Amino acid sequence: MSKKRIFVGITGASGAIYGVRLIKALKSLGHEVHLVISKWGAETLTYETDLDVKALIAKVDKVYDENDQTAGPASGSFHLDAIVIIPCSMKTLAGIAHGYADNLITRAADCALKERRKLVLVPRESPLNLIHIRNMETVTQAGAIVIPASPAFWHKPKTIEDLVDSIVDRVLSHISSSRDSAATWTGED
Ligand SMILES: Cc1cc2nc3c(=O)[nH]c(=O)nc-3n(C[C@H](O)[C@H](O)[C@H](O)COP(=O)(O)O)c2cc1C
Repeated sequence: MSKKRIFVGITGASGAIYGVRLIKALKSLGHEVHLVISKWGAETLTYETDLDVKALIAKVDKVYDENDQTAGPASGSFHLDAIVIIPCSMKTLAGIAHGYADNLITRAADCALKERRKLVLVPRESPLNLIHIRNMETVTQAGAIVIPASPAFWHKPKTIEDLVDSIVDRVLSHISSSRDSAATWTGED
């Protein structure tokens, strides 16, 4: 599998572990990971996991401040193979849906759409209001792939990591980087 450069944005929706597990998977597959964690992404990471931001940053190749609009990913000319926002808050989803690129995560996503690059969003909220649903429709029409943080159970998960990885594997398959361990439905015997 060829090495890819993947931008990962972790925002302040619940489920920071999805971003953590994706980064682990991307690194184990040999990819280059460029990371931005929003202020509220960092808060939820600390609140919900045993990891701190420094430990996560140590695992990636490049990290940017969410307000650094001079960073490479703020330009469509900067090469990225895919952009994944995981978890994606409703606020960040709204920014992307409306082209309101007020930080490096929404700007990188905006660039992905204009450059017709792969953009995967993993939104988490429940229940959804009509604004959330319409914003998911808008980004889908603009070319993004929406993979809700809604794990499957047919692979009989035993741990939270097993559950989370069912979403991580869906993300990996959409950025053309599936791994051998991915649970795959092969049909009933
Ligand atoms: C513990 C915690 C859990 C949250 N969970 C969610 C969530 O699941 N979905 C969501 O859209 N926002 C959630 N929020 C609210 C977002 O963090 C807030 O809207 C924030 O402004 C998002 O900014 P960001 O997208 O720049 O990270 C949560 C906030 C906290 C503190």
